[in-house]
Amino acid sequence: MYKSRLFSGIALLALSASGCGLAVASPERGMVIPAEPTMIDFVDPATVIGLSTRTLTEGDNPGSRYVHINYPEFAGATALNRELRAQAERQLREFRARTRDGGPVSPRPELNVDWQLAASSPEAVAVRLRTGEFQGESWANSTRTVWFDPHTGRATGSTGLLAGDAALRRFAALVREQLKERGGQVERDGVTAGSEKFDSMAFNRRGDLVVEFDDCQLGPCSLGRVAVAVPAARVTPLLSELGRRAQRSVRENRTHGGDTPTFTPTTDPDAVSNRAGSVDCAKVKCVALTFDDGPGPYTGRLLDLLKQGRARATFFVVGSNATAQPAVVRRMSVEGHLVGNHTWAHRDLSKQGSSKITDTLVKTGDTVSGIIGQTPKLVRPPYGAVSQQVGNVAREMGLSLVTWDIDTDDQNGAKVKDIADRAVREAHPGAIILMHDIHRETVDAVPDILKRLRGKGYSFVTVPELYGSVGMQAGRLYRSGNELPRKQPLT
Ligand code: NI
Repeated sequence: MYKSRLFSGIALLALSASGCGLAVASPERGMVIPAEPTMIDFVDPATVIGLSTRTLTEGDNPGSRYVHINYPEFAGATALNRELRAQAERQLREFRARTRDGGPVSPRPELNVDWQLAASSPEAVAVRLRTGEFQGESWANSTRTVWFDPHTGRATGSTGLLAGDAALRRFAALVREQLKERGGQVERDGVTAGSEKFDSMAFNRRGDLVVEFDDCQLGPCSLGRVAVAVPAARVTPLLSELGRRAQRSVRENRTHGGDTPTFTPTTDPDAVSNRAGSVDCAKVKCVALTFDDGPGPYTGRLLDLLKQGRARATFFVVGSNATAQPAVVRRMSVEGHLVGNHTWAHRDLSKQGSSKITDTLVKTGDTVSGIIGQTPKLVRPPYGAVSQQVGNVAREMGLSLVTWDIDTDDQNGAKVKDIADRAVREAHPGAIILMHDIHRETVDAVPDILKRLRGKGYSFVTVPELYGSVGMQAGRLYRSGNELPRKQPLT
């Protein structure tokens, strides 16, 4: 069921720039250094059959906090899906409780969870979840890795890789030993044999078991990320049956690395894009439907509905979701819709520095380009939040920023009829309408919206078509098709 290949590149579990004493020493000239052992070869989600993603979200509309929790969902791995969902819901509940009485504060508290696959084979599946929480002034990051045994159908935490409590105690001693060699400010005594400390473990390509600690868990936060790789020879005797199978499959997968799937977009002769440019929004009434945060489980059906309704839309995709469902992203493009960039993991860009803003936009742009053969020129900043720096980076990268002037308020259990009514009631020529294709209700509302707005004489176009021959400029923020673009983004 799980067919996977590795990324051609090695995804580095990046050590924080502030990480002290853990950085790899600079190599001597001409010397080949072995790969940093705490690196893990993540599996390319595009190679995993039956993968989709789920998202819990809060905050595109007025509220006091931002939440975006994204996790994968696997065909046939019921216990894993259930566990990931339960953890996501628990994180959301706890974050809401912690931020309950805050009221509107700036910057808003934020919870963000994204994922990677540390293993995906018929022997073992591992989902590494990275949580970023912003409260006050800075981000605190933590990771955990949930394992799934396809042989037994059971999900387990990372300590399930080890053969019981005695093995965990022995493993903790090995980790302390490794940390001792590092010296510095790491609090080795904090490494006790509990499942909380060892909640994020996965194998590197050599079969060493890599354990990652959360920010501030083993010493001052200035240490940044702390990770240790216990060599294969020492950890193997301590592994459970799942652990041994997982270790073996990661090592065997080494030989499969090297080719990332590429897509050659073909044009569907019936695509509505063939009518692109035939609509002059200066003369006829146009609206731009925009769908954010996907692709998700309902996006395929949405594409069917848009095709039936002969409507074009703009999809602002999240990079990690695009890697999980590249075929759906490709369909968007082939069927005449525009694919825009909604960042890799949906963190508020206005809380980030230029290099992080650039990274997330480049990574997502490259991913989309690898799928559809075109790099998106439009960015929707998560939560609509921008800063001067976001504008500067966008200008340098040749990207325009697009928010919205109509919010269908389709998050958090909105009703189908209410979503449709808001879209239809507030529509005006040049409107940019915010919707989310990660919600079933939103997709269900689309046929009604298309029918009623078409009845009022509207055409459904992509965002750039609203601006016609005037075009859109890099670094500018666009909220609506009938206002002059702002010279500088709002802060
Ligand atoms: Ni969004």
